[in-house]
Parts: sequence; C-alpha cells; structure tokens
Amino acid sequence: MKRTILITGGAGFIGSHVVRLFVNKYPDYRILNLDKLTYAGNLANLKDIEDRPNYTFVKGDICDFESVSGLIREARVDGIIHLAAESHVDRSIKDPFTFAKTNVLGTLSLLQAAKDFWQPLGYEIDGVPCRFYHISTDEVYGALELTRPEGKAPYGDDFFTEDTKYNPHSPYSAAKASSDHFVRAFHDTYGLPTIVTNCSNNYGPYQFPEKLIPLFVNNIRHRKPLPVYGKGENVRDWLYVEDHARAIDLIFHEGKIAETYNIGGFNEWKNIDIVRTLIRVTDRLLGRAEGEDDNLITFVTDRAGHDLRYAIDSTKLSRELGWKPSLQFEEGIEKTVRWYLENQEWLDQVTSGDYQKYYEQMYKNR
Ligand code: NAD
Ligand code: DAU
Repeated sequence: MKRTILITGGAGFIGSHVVRLFVNKYPDYRILNLDKLTYAGNLANLKDIEDRPNYTFVKGDICDFESVSGLIREARVDGIIHLAAESHVDRSIKDPFTFAKTNVLGTLSLLQAAKDFWQPLGYEIDGVPCRFYHISTDEVYGALELTRPEGKAPYGDDFFTEDTKYNPHSPYSAAKASSDHFVRAFHDTYGLPTIVTNCSNNYGPYQFPEKLIPLFVNNIRHRKPLPVYGKGENVRDWLYVEDHARAIDLIFHEGKIAETYNIGGFNEWKNIDIVRTLIRVTDRLLGRAEGEDDNLITFVTDRAGHDLRYAIDSTKLSRELGWKPSLQFEEGIEKTVRWYLENQEWLDQVTSGDYQKYYEQMYKNR
C-alpha cells in the first residue's frame, strides 16, 4: 500500500462519504476508519465498501489517547482526516460537557498521538510527507446580519472568509473553535503539518434524522409536525455532501500546510423556504398533491442563541485549487429526498431505540 490514512468519524454522515470516496478512488491506499459508533455513527452507511481489501474499520474513541497512539504507531499512519465529533447544536445546548470532551479533548488526543509518532521521523514516513487535516465548520465564525431579508439570496452584504474573526455562540461551535485553535497551535509549536477547513451546512444521503432536512422529509412522509424554530427566517448555506467529500480529497492532496480553506456553495436559503421546498418535492415524489402537507409546518420556540445567517466565501478554494460544487441545489434536494424515501429501512433503523426516546423528550419540551 502506498499510504495509510486514518479517517476519524467515518461511520457518520460526512465521514462515510469521505471513506467511500477514498476506498473507491485509491485502491493503493490503506484506509482505516476509527469511529466510536455513537448514536450518530452507523456501519450501515458503509455496507457497500465494508469488504474492500483496502478498508478496515476500528471501533474506538478518539479520547482514548493510549489506543489512538497505538493505532497510529502500529499501522504507520501517514495521513489523518479528522471528522469525528459531536455535531448537533441542539444536543450541545443540553449537554455541553460531551461536546468539550469529544471535540476538544478528542482532537487534542489525536494531535498529540500524531505528533509523538511523526516528529521523531521528521514528519515523513517512507518518503511520504505526513498530514493532519482537521474538518471544521463555518459556525466558528459566529453569525452574519440579514441586511436584505426580502427577495433572493444573498441575504446580506458580508460573507465568512478565512480571515473572519472567530466568534462562536453555541457550545458546539465553541468546542469546534477550540479544536481549531489546538490544531493551529500544534503547527506553530511543534511544526505538525496541519490543514483546517471550515465548511457550510451539508445535505445528502446518510445524514442522521435529527438534522433539518432528513428529519423533515421523514416527518412529511409520516405526516408528523415540522417543528420550525422561531419564524423560520434563519439562513443557512447548503452544500451537497459529495461535493464536500471531493473538496476534502483535493485539499488533503493539494492543499498547503498551515492554511485554512473555506468550503461552501454560495447557496443561501431561509429555513422556511427550504421547508416549503421539502414539502413540495416530498409530496410530489409520494404522489400527493404538491404542498398538500403545508399544514404540518409548526412554528416552535426558537433555538437558544440561534445564529441568524451563515454565508461562506469559498473563493480561495476555487481560485487556488480549482474546486467548485458540481450540483445545483434543486437537483441535489431532489436526489436527497428521493434517497430518504427509498431508504425507509435505514431511517427506521437509526431512529429506533435510544434516539427515538431522546427525540420524543426534546419535542415534548418545546
Ligand atoms: P455526524 O454526527 O454525522 O458523525 C460524527 C461521527 O463521529 C459519528 O460516526 C460518531 O460515531 C463519531 N464519533 C463521535 N464521537 C466520537 C469519538 N469520541 N471517537 C470516535 N468517533 C466518534 O457528523 P457529521 O455531520 O458527519 O460531521 C462530521 C464532521 O464535519 C464534524 O467534525 C462536524 O463538526 C463537521 N462539519 C459538519 C457539517 C454538517 O453540515 N454536517 C458542516 C461542516 C462541518
Ligand atoms: O453550518 C455547518 C453546521 O451545520 C455543522 O457544523 C453542524 O454539524 C450541522 O449540524 C449544521 O448545523 P445547523 O444547526 O445549521 O443544522 P440543523 O440541521 O440542526 O439546523 C439547520 C437550521 O434549521 C437551523 O437554522 C435550525 C433549523 N431547525 C433545525 C431543526 C433540527 C429547525 O427550524 N427545526 C428543527 O427541528
């Protein structure tokens, strides 16, 4: 094998797309997927590639420094793509400690383990330069104004660039921001070859149905209420998950060490407009009259500290590395809704048991 790459959080939503892309595209790379399999990790996301000779799943916790160190050392890992995290803002509001532990201490544990193994080798293994690639989020930059709330996107004049000052508001984004700082500190202090990317909201297959798009498609199908926070005026910038995975592949191979790249689709949507689109597409694909389920929209108490608008400027990534999103939103949403409707078994499996109890509790309290 030419290289050994450790992908953390590979059983989650984005991680599973990254693992699939690397396993298929690089048969001469050995891909290790380290995942704790929390409620959000599901090996069913990787059924199609689980028997590939260049793929190995390792169940483990990134916070377990001894095990992580042993794995990196024994497998002679030369590249790390770090996605493992607690990722849901609503959960972080209820339980910030878990977010600090996984997102901050887990990242620190990986950084230290990589540094301990790589530094004495001059950050090169068998002629291959080492690389620690940390996947972060646009939420670390805080929130933008909605200076043009009416009409079409963009809904404001400013965008998050790589130079925007960090200003996180939720325990989730505070923990991600802290992990980003640790990654950069390991570069500046020890010379660890790091890269950080900050991406906007992803959508597509295999997203855990506590997040807006899969939750609402599933609820429309079952004619359950659609809990829209506040007035649905918040704006998010949406990117198809496979386009994010392609960006990660490109940046892992061609990005410059110590750099930050923003990833986004210049695709801003107000939540309420996304919800209406989801109802229209889901109704049509189910053979119902389009918009028939508009009455499921239920405005509920807003999320605490709800960031108003995210909008990513990904010009640097397109200018320097030539990346651009491949899918138009209308096409991506249609593909996504179709996937959830055709994969009810997957949805049932991941929404059973503990998660179901958690969701009922959350919804009852609103
Ligand atoms: P996810 O919640 O779907 O998956 C997270 C994965 O990490 C799961 O498989 C889980 O089992 C694993 N994990 C959690 N704690 C772990 C631990 N202690 N040790 C090992 N594995 C652990 O998350 P996602 O939406 O795929 O996000 C992946 C990464 O991308 C995160 O770092 C997130 O902050 C970032 N991100 C997500 C988005 C988005 O829209 N989803 C956008 C930008 C950045
Ligand atoms: O911006 C990138 C981030 O996108 C990632 O870092 C996070 O890991 C990911 O979860 C996502 O965060 P959001 O909070 O934006 O995603 P979520 O799907 O939870 O919510 C999207 C928007 O929809 C947000 O404004 C809140 C709103 N919402 C969400 C849910 C779950 C509702 O109105 N009702 C809901 O039930």
